[in-house]
Amino acid sequence: ESSETTKLKKMYGDAAQLFNHILVNTAMGEKALTYLHERGLNDAMIKEFNLGYAPTEELLAAFFKEKGLEQQLLRKSGLFVELQDGSLKERFYNRVLFPIRDPQGKTIAFSGRLLVKDNKQPKYLNSPETKIFNKRKVLFNFDKAKSEIRHQKSALLFEGFMDVLAAYRAGVKNGLASMGTSLTNEQIYLLERVTDHLDICYDGDDPGQHATARALTLLEPLTKMQLGVLPIPERMDPDEYVKKYGEEKFAELAQNAPETVTAFYMRYYEQDRNLANEADQLAYLADVLQQLAKVKAPVERDIYLNQLAKRFGIEKTNLEAQLQTYLRKYT
Ligand code: UTP
Ligand code: MN
Ligand code: MN
Ligand code: MN
Ligand code: MN
Repeated sequence: ESSETTKLKKMYGDAAQLFNHILVNTAMGEKALTYLHERGLNDAMIKEFNLGYAPTEELLAAFFKEKGLEQQLLRKSGLFVELQDGSLKERFYNRVLFPIRDPQGKTIAFSGRLLVKDNKQPKYLNSPETKIFNKRKVLFNFDKAKSEIRHQKSALLFEGFMDVLAAYRAGVKNGLASMGTSLTNEQIYLLERVTDHLDICYDGDDPGQHATARALTLLEPLTKMQLGVLPIPERMDPDEYVKKYGEEKFAELAQNAPETVTAFYMRYYEQDRNLANEADQLAYLADVLQQLAKVKAPVERDIYLNQLAKRFGIEKTNLEAQLQTYLRKYT
């Protein structure tokens, strides 16, 4: 590890401690602390994840200069934005901070959330890429989750940091999130080192459902991991679900509700279709059968063919015949 890398990690570690101190112990942090409490995060969770608050535009630069750090290092850290006149302004202010850690548990970046919605600024702001932070390689919470993932023999992928935290306080500790983007090869590789089973638990709203379909399409050719989906009811995200129904109910859901990829698509392809209409029915069956053609296990295919035959009153042999036409395409 180069000395610059070590210095940058030290900076992020120190900054995280400072921001946590401001959140937990100072009057400047009160608003943010109340915000987090209202979102269901207690002091133990705040400590566990070392959450922080960046209050103002001028705090860190002075803090680091006092420690004798050169301007050049400050520039490279990504913690500041440089103004026209060359002065450095805090990148994060007025935001609750989620430290992003590397697999060894060292803080290498932040994601900061606005306390109140503002149409001029993004809700979440991430650190830029630096010598120590490559967002393609990072999975939020991987350091804490990896032993749990090995133990449970499966990982759970969420959309957001708040979802990972909500699951965690419900005792579901194998949760991860990418940095607001779809999974990368590097992240898949990281996961494959610890498990062969991944369930996707994106938001229950339409964007979350579409993102699930995209993630499955992306993952299927790239990984041997067994994939599944944990659907969240009522178009909620996991954090909203925990808030509405409580931690125990979420833990039960995570335990009992994961479904197969096929089951996901059978629900997904129903969206925006009226299955009382024959044209919609045919389009739906075509979509589902094409999906089934990708399923290798004959027994699994049979389960769903039986369901379709029963539901639509179609001879199973006819469904099988149509499935065969799609199978030829895939083999
Ligand atoms: P969501 O809009 O679902 O946010 O975006 P969320 O996780 O539910 O956040 P809360 O509950 O409002 O606090 C999902 C993820 O997309 C990324 C973040 O990683 C977020 O967690 N995102 C979203 C951004 O990077 N920037 C944004 O402005 C919004
Ligand atoms: Mn979302
Ligand atoms: Mn599963
Ligand atoms: Mn969400
Ligand atoms: Mn949310």
